[in-house]
Amino acid sequence: MDGPDQLRNLQQLKKLKFDDEKYRTATSMDQVDTERRVEKCYDRFEQLRYLDNRKALPTIHRLQHIKFLENMLRSLSTNYECLDSSRPWLIYWILNAAHLLNSRFPDDLLSRVVKFLVKCRSKTGGFGGGPGQVPHLATTYGSVNALCIIGTPEAYDAIDKPTLLNFLYRVRDDKIGAFRMDTDGEIDVRGAYCAVSVAKLVNISAEEEAKLFNGTVDWIASCQTYEGGMGGVPDKEAHGGYTFCGIAALALLGSTGKCNLDALLRWTVNKQMKFEGGFQGRTNKLVDGCYSFWCGAIVPIVQAIISKKEPYLSRILTKPVFDVRALQEYIFICCQRPSGGLIDKPDTPPDLYHTCYTLSGVSVAQHSEVDADPFVIGDILNNELLPTHPLYNTPPKCVWQAFMHFQNYDDAGECSSNGDQTNQDNGDKGGLNGHQ
Ligand code: FPP
Ligand code: ZN
Repeated sequence: MDGPDQLRNLQQLKKLKFDDEKYRTATSMDQVDTERRVEKCYDRFEQLRYLDNRKALPTIHRLQHIKFLENMLRSLSTNYECLDSSRPWLIYWILNAAHLLNSRFPDDLLSRVVKFLVKCRSKTGGFGGGPGQVPHLATTYGSVNALCIIGTPEAYDAIDKPTLLNFLYRVRDDKIGAFRMDTDGEIDVRGAYCAVSVAKLVNISAEEEAKLFNGTVDWIASCQTYEGGMGGVPDKEAHGGYTFCGIAALALLGSTGKCNLDALLRWTVNKQMKFEGGFQGRTNKLVDGCYSFWCGAIVPIVQAIISKKEPYLSRILTKPVFDVRALQEYIFICCQRPSGGLIDKPDTPPDLYHTCYTLSGVSVAQHSEVDADPFVIGDILNNELLPTHPLYNTPPKCVWQAFMHFQNYDDAGECSSNGDQTNQDNGDKGGLNGHQ
């Protein structure tokens, strides 16, 4: 099978379904039930194809997803009350997903987003989940990514580099070189990744990097398990989300020698489900659309590192070693709500997290072959997404522009374009729409 218009053969695929070997457990029944729901989607699509003389191809509901994202952005203050402490995350997911779909929101809306994020910024550095909330590494990562995607002078000015670095020092555990999610929070590899990612985006100096991340590489490498993937902390179960964080942080720090890359790659590609086509996050768990990115992005990252280290392998590592067709089939056929928004697996509701990470995974699948045209199933004009940077998961151009912007900004905080915009932790509850 080679052309992107070819789909996998459904009848052959069915032979790859899970075999419980007549030993039923709760886990095996969940797997069987998930396959049944996925099969229903594939069967329905196959029937449509027959009705259409086998011409119908999977299609991405681009306009509906863009509308869904814009509606969510405009109503962020009224929807998702339960995620009140994650609004910078939601903003990042919306902006990144919209960019992948090649859409940019009106300038006045983006400017309101920036003003909202400024309200989330703590005067002691970092961004909280909402105005007046304590700064947290995850929402700091979401805010910095979102502001770099917006990329206007107002957005860059919203990132206060000196206090941001102070915050990173405050969440660093000096004894082991790992990072807490907030000053009193848990340590895990997400913290290390968020800290490395924002520090690199604001272009910290080599001396500052050596100081801030002293011991971090060893600590991350110690999270790799016997399976090959990484757990959240040493000796915990390997998981795609943590493994992405670990390897992306090591790659950003330019130091992957202490990690067993072959084992990491083998573990990751084995997380792709034979029948479903999407990835699971850990051994014996269910397929989930968000791992399209968390697991999918690991593959080109590791392949690029191996190719650099072992140039004789680079020729055979130009194509990503996971099934990029199967992943797109899973997302296009099983993970879209026709009226907009993407999902984890059939029969689950859409949300912004899955919309961002399913699309990010599709983008990685389409654009990971080195020096080649994108591999897009179906109508390329409609289905091709824009590329994402696999280490930051932001548009590659935004990474470059952020580097350029912050290179003139020394670590002590001198930058001609940065006014005094540091927010106060004053409990200001202003929101995107100004009606919170
Ligand atoms: C398990 O959920 C999920 C985790 C243990 C966390 C995974 C970590 C990430 C997704 C990375 C986050 C990244 C950043 C940058 C903050 P589950 O048990 O509901 O799902 P599962 O059954 O698929 O494992
Ligand atoms: Zn998920």
